[in-house]
Amino acid sequence: MKYIGVIFSILLLLTAVSCDKKEVPTQVIPVYDTSLELLTSNDQALAAGSGNPSFIQIIVKNEINDPVEGVVVTFTQISTQDREDTSFNRTATTNATGTISLNYFADTLVGADTIQIVAEGAVDSLVLLALTVTPAAVDTIFKVAPLAPTVFGIAGELIADTFKVQILDAYSNPVANERVLFRAFDRCVLITDSTANLSMENDSIYTRTNTDGEAWAQVTLSINPRSDGGYPNSFNMMVTSPVLTGDTIAFVLASTDPGTITYYGDVRNIFDDNCILCHPTVASSYDLTRYFTTVVNPIVIPGDTINSTMLNYAVSTHQNSSINVVEEDKVKLWIGTHNAVPGSSGLVSYTSHIKNIIDANCLSCHGDPPGPSTTYMMTTHAEIRANDVAIPADTNSTLVLKLNPGGNMRTYVSDVQADSIINWVVSDSLRQY
Ligand code: HEC
Ligand code: HEC
Repeated sequence: MKYIGVIFSILLLLTAVSCDKKEVPTQVIPVYDTSLELLTSNDQALAAGSGNPSFIQIIVKNEINDPVEGVVVTFTQISTQDREDTSFNRTATTNATGTISLNYFADTLVGADTIQIVAEGAVDSLVLLALTVTPAAVDTIFKVAPLAPTVFGIAGELIADTFKVQILDAYSNPVANERVLFRAFDRCVLITDSTANLSMENDSIYTRTNTDGEAWAQVTLSINPRSDGGYPNSFNMMVTSPVLTGDTIAFVLASTDPGTITYYGDVRNIFDDNCILCHPTVASSYDLTRYFTTVVNPIVIPGDTINSTMLNYAVSTHQNSSINVVEEDKVKLWIGTHNAVPGSSGLVSYTSHIKNIIDANCLSCHGDPPGPSTTYMMTTHAEIRANDVAIPADTNSTLVLKLNPGGNMRTYVSDVQADSIINWVVSDSLRQY
């Protein structure tokens, strides 16, 4: 720089002096060329988002290897097609030893960072420094994939579904070649029945993540049935990494085919015991006493264990409810296995339950034509509802009153049958199918 400055001043002087005379200066005073050299070793690796600086060091020398002070050098991170995070851009001037030392903080994307270094006025002034950014392993987190955390298996058989996780660093970069431990241990069995025996043939599996950061395990279950014959025998499949800190994720697994979990058969009891003291009466207008008020979007979305908000509430931390993990799992399975869908809910419907009872016991007087002494026809779902004789969920519907204990139509059917018809009107909203 010093020399360039000198030349420049001389040129200016000569130009000023000679402008009238139109004379060209004969010769420039010779100077030593300066060149840029990298002191840092090329292609270093550093962790994404790394707060620990990796110094970039350069030196500018002249032809006879003396350091050159005062040269302006620009450091720019070059963007490649798929990398946008290129914020590094600095300018600095060489010191008395001809060097510049700069801190470099890796950005958050894994891959190659390239720094272009240009020294002003120097020969060979362009140098490219390659840095490899690796995942920020210390902050690694687990992400579950696939997201549905419930996997089904039959005791003693290989589970068709795999337990699959992905390991990402704090900036969502996949972490490859990391050790992952899948480990099964009981959950409900321990709490509800300590005599039940749960084991997995291979109850821990070590594996490593691939380049997408994914690892998976497929296991054979061998679980003895619970001594009380109860369901579910669900347990946790924990996934941890021995070297990385991060979240531990758990799968809920049904050890045996849970069969159909129904609102009335299974879930309603759980709500009765733990929830309806507040729902809908005391604290919230959300009504857990009936199927059609319980299964409302987005609280219960049949088949969807991700977006159904019920899963955040059917837990003991919600209002200190006394729901236990067995019950939690039942609710989760009920939602997740589509049993919350009306058609497979175990609900009483006209077609599946009620038509037979009415055809056999009521049509002799309420057929088509009806009578004697009545015009009320009951041969179809529509006729039963006609003229508001039966109103969904209405305990004062004529049909309900006539079938209540003391009602004069209750005598034509058994108590159980009368109660099913009442339940059908009151709780199941006169469901047709
Ligand atoms: C002690 C009273 C109490 C108990 C017991 C209780 N809840 Fe709640 N629940 C509330 C209150 C208050 C709210 C509203 C505030 C909130 O969202 O936390 C609520 C909200 C909810 C919601 C959200 C409703 C909406 O409209 O978004 C759901 C779902 C729910 N509870 C389910 C349950 C379930 C399932 C149980 C039983 C395991 C239960 N609750 C037990 C008091 C209770
Ligand atoms: C032996 C004849 C007979 C049988 C069987 C019978 N009903 Fe009736 N039902 C009547 C008569 C007569 C009336 C009109 C008088 C009354 O309301 O009590 C009537 C009225 C009714 C009404 C009131 C209709 C209205 O429009 O207000 C309902 C509801 C009803 N019956 C339901 C049933 C049901 C449900 C069954 C079968 C479990 C049944 N009945 C069986 C004779 C019968």
